Amino acid sequence: MSVCLIPGSYDPITRGHVDVIQRAAVLFSDVVVAILRNPEKPGWLTWDQREALARAALSGIQGVSVIQFEGLAVDCARASGARVIARGIRSIQDFEYEAAMARANRELSGVDSIETIFLAADPSLAHWSSSAARQLAAFGGTLAAVIPSGSLELLTQYILDMRRTARGKS
Ligand code: PNS
Repeated sequence: MSVCLIPGSYDPITRGHVDVIQRAAVLFSDVVVAILRNPEKPGWLTWDQREALARAALSGIQGVSVIQFEGLAVDCARASGARVIARGIRSIQDFEYEAAMARANRELSGVDSIETIFLAADPSLAHWSSSAARQLAAFGGTLAAVIPSGSLELLTQYILDMRRTARGKS
């Protein structure tokens, strides 16, 4: 059994994430998609909303599970039985950041020696990100290019709920 961890904020999950997860699922028997919770960075969507969106976007991809985890990526990898962490790379800037993280994680993992592999983002998706999705949502842009079809309806519902709550407060 080969297990791969794909940690991230997934705020929200994008088509780029799904592409990387799908490709990792071809290489590993189990892919654990972990929404890493950082209580100091609550972000845009709640953790449970992110998990529901990830489940909706990834349903139908065999061998993929979705979890939430609060703590270090290496501790999440250990708890999931993963020796490999996979991350998607869209640009040289991503690589600089991810390479530093990979080195830190390898050192932190000690004798477990958890390695990170990088999957090059599909060029047709490399300009989309969760932050682009958040901007599109804030200004009423079309989300279909960046959000997976499986989670688009649910995300639209969350956005409408947020707007209603915001209007109720003003
Ligand atoms: O989707 P993101 O925001 O690029 O994901 C970043 C994430 C959550 C994978 C990264 O911030 C992370 O691994 N956070 C957990 C803390 C950790 O293990 N840091 C690495 C060693 S300092």
